[in-house]
Order: sequence, then C-alpha cells, then structure tokens
Amino acid sequence: MTTDRLIVFDTTLRDGEQAPGFSLRTEQKLRLARQLAALGVDVMEVGFPVASEDDARAVELIAREVRGPVLAALGRCNVADIELVGEVIRGAERPRIHTFIATSDLHMEAKLRISRDECLRAVQTCVARARDYTDDVQFSAEDATRSDMDFLCQVVDTAIAAGATTINLPDTVGYSVPSEVSRFFREVMARTNDADGVVFSTHCHDDLGLAVANSLAAVLAGVRQVECTINGIGERAGNASLEEIVMATRVRRDLLPFATGIDTTRLFRTSRLLCELTGEPVQANKAIVGRNAFAHEAGIHQHGMIRDRRTYEIMRPEDVGVESKLVLGKHSGRHAVKRRCEGLGYNLTRFEVDRVYREVIALADQGKSVGDDDLVVIVNRR
Ligand code: KIV
Ligand code: ZN
Repeated sequence: MTTDRLIVFDTTLRDGEQAPGFSLRTEQKLRLARQLAALGVDVMEVGFPVASEDDARAVELIAREVRGPVLAALGRCNVADIELVGEVIRGAERPRIHTFIATSDLHMEAKLRISRDECLRAVQTCVARARDYTDDVQFSAEDATRSDMDFLCQVVDTAIAAGATTINLPDTVGYSVPSEVSRFFREVMARTNDADGVVFSTHCHDDLGLAVANSLAAVLAGVRQVECTINGIGERAGNASLEEIVMATRVRRDLLPFATGIDTTRLFRTSRLLCELTGEPVQANKAIVGRNAFAHEAGIHQHGMIRDRRTYEIMRPEDVGVESKLVLGKHSGRHAVKRRCEGLGYNLTRFEVDRVYREVIALADQGKSVGDDDLVVIVNRR
C-alpha cells in the first residue's frame, strides 16, 4: 500500500486566535509558533495582519524568528490587504500569502454586495498581485461548500490561472456531512483545468461536530492539505482538531494511508501550552488530549487494562505524550487498587487489598477521586 503525505496546515494562530476568549499577546504567539514548529506542522498560518497593528507586528516577528514550516498570513481579496500581507510575511524563510473571498451567492449578495463578475475580477487581480511577492499563494473560496458548483469551478480556474498554488475550499459554517464533502471535492477536482498542478485543501468548521470527519472525507477524495487547529479551537464551535486528524491517520492507517510530519509525542504538551497561554482548559473527555482520554475508572476496564492495555486503548498514550492512568473512584475494582499500591511500593496480601479497597470505595462514595496521597494514608493506617 502506498502512503501519501498529508500537508498539515495549522491555523491555531489565525482562525483559532480569532475566537472569543483565545486572543494572545505577541510574545505568547511567538512561544506557541515555536512549539508548533517543533511539533512538525508543514504550514503555520500566523495571523490576519489587517485585523490590527498588533496582529501585523506579531506576523512580522514570527516570520523573522521561526524557521522550518511554511509561514502563511491571511488577507482579503483586495490589493491593500495583499500588499500588507506581502510586506509583513516577506521576512519568512518560506512565505505564503493566503487570500480569500466568499463565493456563495448568500455571502456575495448579503455581505459583500458584489456580483459574480466582480468576485472573479477580484480573484484574478489579487492572486496575481500576491504572486509579485511570493511563488507560494493560497486562494480560499469562503463558504465554498454552499456555493453554486458551476460558479465555484470558474473561481477555482481563475485563481489557478492567476497563479494560485493551493486551492482551499472551506466548509465555513460547518454545514456539510462527510459523504457530501467527498462528492464535492471529487467534482471540483474533476472539473478544474489544472487540478494536478495545485494542492487542494480542506478547512472544516465544527458547527455540527463533523469537522474532523469532513476533513478525512476530503482527504479520501484526493485532498492533500488539511487545515486544523490545536484543541480544535476556532470561530464558533471551532475548526477540525489537529491532534484528532493526525492520530486518526496513524491509528487507522489501514483505511487512511496517509503520513504526516507531526511528532505525535509533542501533541499533549502543545495542547497544554495553548491552554496555559489562553487560560481556556480542554474539556475532560476531549479525544487525544482531554484529561480523561487515557483514564480508566471502571473496575472491568481497569482489570482489562492490567491484563492487556489494548483491551481499552486503541493507541499508546506515550505516542501522544501522556501516560494512561487507572483512576481510583467508586467504579474501581480490587485489581486497580492492588496495582496502584504496587506502584507506590506496597505489596499487599489479598486480605489487605480487600480492606484498602473498601476504604477507597468509602472515600470515593463521598464524591472524591482517590489520589496517591490518599492511598498512602489508607495503606499506612491499615
Ligand atoms: O472558514 C473560513 O472560510 C476561513 C477562510 C478565511 C479560510 O477561515
Ligand atoms: Zn475558518
């Protein structure tokens, strides 16, 4: 089986940072950018310079300081935006200009108040202007999945003819379902004049909780760049989560034969760094990086885990940079109590285990989870 390489495009510092509660100061952005580079993302979108002077300065600084990934900055499809982006990103080792315009009738009529012809002209002019700064130009058709297919194909052809090297077709409002996304990309790619000469990209929002599933459906249809964020942060319900996409391709390589450049052992600490910088915790049951993602409390599960971890873990926690834990709570069994005691250096007889177990359950029944300190106290008392 051949394994295709997926381009991981991280937009934590742009789409993620623009969500309420997630804004970062310049030095925090730089710290996160360094961590994302160490994580191994291929492309890092570092900001939307026209949004504020601070954003522009942060993009300029990251472009100067961070080496490794392609660094992209976003601008609307107007010449002033492109020129600003071109100026602030030019210090990057490998700069990319990312420009976008909405292509659905709803957005063009209600928001932009432009005709289809005006939209096509803007795409042509701005992509061509971006190419004056760099050979690496990405064009995004905002609200692509709700756009008229014939018109969207015209837009894509126009962007490629003007010099775009990556074509991103976002599911901007998270409206699509996976089967639809596959069909959508297959059709656009089949109808594009020079589809083989560009990289197609997916950018899915999570309004229906389908962002990761939709992104993977796009990849299965032939898309080779996936846009995502750490912890899935982003506008409204967020973007597709980077850690989930990467681990899905790793765990299910049989069905998703794609490789990434991500050092998965850094996923957990990257997630925690983002939490620390934004002050926003990850929900406990979040896949891959949530506090409970590798925690086992129920007795039956703990027993299975002690015998063979594969009974309840589909990936090795150390592969994402965490350790699995047997949590002692009211659903735990004697096996887990014995194992935790052994871990603390106590080899208890069956009788002793039984007594400690009953105290653990009594404590847990008061609504507490029983930590190592509690266990030491109980064992010593016994
Ligand atoms: O969701 C979206 O459409 C976007 C584009 C600007 C790429 O974030
Ligand atoms: Zn977006």
